[in-house]
Amino acid sequence: MRYNSIIPGIFLERPNRFIAYIDINGKKETVHVKNTGRCAELLRPGARVYLQESDNPDRKTRWDLIAVEKETDQGSVRLVNMDSQAPNQVVKEWIEKGGLIKGATLVKPEYTYGISRIDLYVETNERKILIEVKGVTLEEEGRVRFPDAPSERAVKHVEELKAAVRQGYEAYVFFVIQMRDVRYFTPNTDTHPAFAKALREAAEGGVRVVAYDCEVSPDAIQIAQEVPVVLENPILNEMAEPLMAWYRNHKRDLPWRRNPDAYRVWVSEIMLQQTRVEAVKSYYERFLRELPTVEALARAEEDTLLKLWEGLGYYNRVRNMQKAAQQIMIDYHGRFPDTYEEIRSLKGIGNYTAGAISAFAFGIPKPAVDGNVLRVVSRLTGSREDIMKQSVRKKMEEALEKVIPADGASDFNQGLIELGAIVCVPNGEPKCGECPVAHLCEARKQGTACEIPVKSKGKARKMEKRTVLLFKDGQRLAIQKRPSKGLLAGLYEFPNEPGHMTMKEVTEYSKSIGLMPIRVKKLDTAKHIFSHIEWHMTGYEVMVDELEKTNQKDFLFIHPEEIEKKYSMPSAFEKYTRYAGIKKD
Ligand code: ADE
Ligand code: SF4
Repeated sequence: MRYNSIIPGIFLERPNRFIAYIDINGKKETVHVKNTGRCAELLRPGARVYLQESDNPDRKTRWDLIAVEKETDQGSVRLVNMDSQAPNQVVKEWIEKGGLIKGATLVKPEYTYGISRIDLYVETNERKILIEVKGVTLEEEGRVRFPDAPSERAVKHVEELKAAVRQGYEAYVFFVIQMRDVRYFTPNTDTHPAFAKALREAAEGGVRVVAYDCEVSPDAIQIAQEVPVVLENPILNEMAEPLMAWYRNHKRDLPWRRNPDAYRVWVSEIMLQQTRVEAVKSYYERFLRELPTVEALARAEEDTLLKLWEGLGYYNRVRNMQKAAQQIMIDYHGRFPDTYEEIRSLKGIGNYTAGAISAFAFGIPKPAVDGNVLRVVSRLTGSREDIMKQSVRKKMEEALEKVIPADGASDFNQGLIELGAIVCVPNGEPKCGECPVAHLCEARKQGTACEIPVKSKGKARKMEKRTVLLFKDGQRLAIQKRPSKGLLAGLYEFPNEPGHMTMKEVTEYSKSIGLMPIRVKKLDTAKHIFSHIEWHMTGYEVMVDELEKTNQKDFLFIHPEEIEKKYSMPSAFEKYTRYAGIKKD
């Protein structure tokens, strides 16, 4: 679309919606503003504008305001067309030239449908298409939004289109961005949340929502390029850039972040699910030294494996890792699979770990949502949904997947993890003053960061009383292997029995299993919390007579130093291993 007789001017003032005062060649003139929107951020005193001289001699105002130069934060200039009649015209011209809809046989403006007038009606041989066109001039840092003031009419239009789809029409809401080079379009939830909702519902109902930016010059405007449309979670969309920039400057130097191949990422992420970053470091280095490859892990002896995991807890995780490693050897000839689906199908790898490996090792834009990410994102979006619910996690994964930059999967996910670890911390006040996305954060805006995330209580843990017995035969101590299934499967432990025994009961019990107690000593009590069970332990040291020992149980009597080196004992027994002089990491 072209304009004739364009002249420049300088904006002075806008006394009402319809007119503006413009300095044209040193003279203050009254011009018509062809846009009833506010455009407050565009029409600033001193702004350079472009005007079209009217060819109608009877008009009160001789000029129409067509375009305005807007200074960007980077100091460059963006030319914005603000003629509200232009969008309809440019879309019509573009469709007539073959844009958007192939094979249009009819393009008709101002079509009456129901109680609304729809901007364009297009027909092809088989299709009947309604198109509502909205001009967009509101832009901040490359993000464009609509409307810039509440618009009930716009809500009505999109609802009408949704109804039309049910009647067998195709329908589009077409946002014409009246400028060039923007990042994305999103409905303006600040000015009119109801429009954002109506647009989302229309999209769900089959209305296509598209946005195109325009090549704009002082005397012309035409459709240029499609612009992404973000209908949901504008906060998450906005957060990506500042989060990633912050991560690049603030990331901690952690061993698994150096040359992150899939195996290294995998080992670290499984360990990090169990304990703090600082504690993981030494375990991680040792594990990779001993088992540097998938193949080494696949071939490792069970006892070696358990020993490397000793103290980390959840031993089934490392057993599953070994099964997965064996699976990789067989199914992928030892090469770590490099698609999300294949990684996710490995034993013991859930959505979080699959996302982390995919993103960190292969740059695949998949989310990695753990408890920390649930907390950070719930706060950012002000969500009070229960993060213990699987459905809430799933929704968050879907929302994040839509906003992960295609070329920044690793920094995006690591950034969220890092933010949760050092800024948006759990248990108490997050450090919002240091947060790179504080300007977007809903919880901060509402002052509710401490109440979020909402977390329902899981099932109460089962309490178990146990008596731990340190049978001592001279220097050697009795240990036994736990069953190969269930809690702490296959690990070694001090003999222990259900309930809290008295000294007398310990003596009786010892005799009943063929051990003759010489001296029994009461030890401290101890508590250990597993995910579903709590052990409340009491302990006894029982000196036994070496000569009168008929070991009816499968106890092994082993020297403490050897236990330390060769047998993995779960940290549930930590108090008693320490008492026995066995050092654990
Ligand atoms: N916690 C979980 N994954 C992590 C990672 N990759 N870096 C630091 N902490 C983490
Ligand atoms: Fe968390 Fe505060 Fe940042 Fe919000 S502003 S994400 S609550 S640290």
